[in-house]
Amino acid sequence: MRRVAAIVAGVALVWAAQVAAADRESEFRGRRLAEANCYDCHALALYDESLDPRAPPFRELALRGDVEALRADMAGDLFARHPKMPDFEPTPDQIDDLVDFIESLAP
Ligand code: HEC
Repeated sequence: MRRVAAIVAGVALVWAAQVAAADRESEFRGRRLAEANCYDCHALALYDESLDPRAPPFRELALRGDVEALRADMAGDLFARHPKMPDFEPTPDQIDDLVDFIESLAP
């Protein structure tokens, strides 16, 4: 019985480590996407100012805490609705990466 418990615990640990690693990779891809497509206007770090003062720093988006709304917004008409925003049509994977990156900015 003990051995089974040990195996279950081991499998859970490996799984958790993989999930964490996947999140970091996704965050990293999201950061790269944001640097390429969003940095001209939005602040991407924890203390910087947005280059376009009207564009909310991404850390503020993270503080709103509603990542599902953000995800839906990006899949919807976010980029068409705001005239200042680039004509950017992210794939679902890119949206996940961007959202993971924005979430990583939450304190
Ligand atoms: C050319 C400047 C510019 C770029 C580039 C840009 N944005 Fe924005 N963004 C804005 C401005 C300005 C606003 C504030 C809303 C407005 O007035 O259009 C905004 C608002 C937002 C909002 C908040 C919308 C809301 O409803 O509160 C999100 C989310 C957002 N941008 C995401 C992004 C992402 C993700 C990228 C990169 C893929 C990006 N933006 C690139 C200018 C930009």
